[in-house]
Amino acid sequence: MAPEPVNVNEFQELARQVLPKMYYDYYAGGAEDQNTLKENTEAFHRIRLRPRVLIDVSRIDMSTTILGYKISAPIMIAPTAYQQLAHPEGEVATARAAAACDTIMVLSFRSTCTVEEVSSSCDAVRFFQLYVYKRRDICAQLVQRAERNGFKAVVLTVDTPRIGRRESDAKNKMIQPKLKNFEGLISSEVDSQDGSKIEAFIKKNFDDSLSWEAIGWLRSITSLPILLKGILTREDARKAVEAGVAGIIVSNHGGRQLDYAPSTISVLEEVVEAVGGRLPVLVDGGVRRGTDVFKALALGAQAVLVGRPVIYGLAAKGENGVRSVIEMLKNELEITMALSGCPTLKHITRNHVMTHHDNRN
Ligand code: FNR
Repeated sequence: MAPEPVNVNEFQELARQVLPKMYYDYYAGGAEDQNTLKENTEAFHRIRLRPRVLIDVSRIDMSTTILGYKISAPIMIAPTAYQQLAHPEGEVATARAAAACDTIMVLSFRSTCTVEEVSSSCDAVRFFQLYVYKRRDICAQLVQRAERNGFKAVVLTVDTPRIGRRESDAKNKMIQPKLKNFEGLISSEVDSQDGSKIEAFIKKNFDDSLSWEAIGWLRSITSLPILLKGILTREDARKAVEAGVAGIIVSNHGGRQLDYAPSTISVLEEVVEAVGGRLPVLVDGGVRRGTDVFKALALGAQAVLVGRPVIYGLAAKGENGVRSVIEMLKNELEITMALSGCPTLKHITRNHVMTHHDNRN
């Protein structure tokens, strides 16, 4: 039997062993040269910590609030598609794990379980991620179903007018799983025989004419707060503030969309400065250690979201695997805070990290 994983990276190998290659490649891969995918983790490694000493750290409090909802630590679950390909219980298992860890799960628009199945499985705070299809009426129906089922915010993903070129999915002729939420509304079937069926499905259904106008439309169909996921520049951060959204998620989609987009941690500060405290800024991409969470907070994020490690935990051990992944990151964050002299999240400041920008000064 494989030894128990001691950190979240070790779940990746366990997942690789249990998953069919087509699914593993889909989860693990990035776009084209996978440069952004690699940079997401490597940019974290280049940031150093500046610990302060002789501070009472006998009690560490990692709790925070996101849009007014209290969570046990600033570590949330990013929306990732098709979780039943990783484990038969899919998104329901992930939602239960999120509830057990007292954190927020963002359910993907392309989830394999329905919003009703997920919401009846546990009563944790959940957000709903949205892609906009050409058929906006169908999107509106689904957002309203999510709202009726107790989801507390809409996370509009804005980095996917088209799907990034993921070469392993093309080679593997990746399947397009059935999307139960859309049964009777949109067919999961695509005409194409070759290449990635997911790519063909997205080409057929996603609205690549989407623009800032969509936020007004979204407001007209739901009263839920709106977060924008996929902001990477100060320019768009300012536009998001002007558009009056409730928050921003700095994200490059885990390196799966535009290759050679910057790592998220390297542009976080730019976005935080542009926002100037007017909105909460969250970040995802490459978070694999508690030290990564600490670095993101020091550079101004209110919380991080975790994508692939959650899927790897789910594939390896179902709900318990997802719980382990979140608990490991929480435990690592706790010790990082203790060893850096930060008993609460408010104590974590810009002075607790050193980036290469600082070295030049
Ligand atoms: C994603 N991501 C994603 N994002 C989104 O808004 N809707 C979605 O349906 C998906 N689906 C999805 C599937 C898979 C397999 C992955 C790996 C990612 C992106 C996700 O929310 C998040 O931005 C990244 O996963 C964060 O990077 P890490 O933590 O995977 O490095």
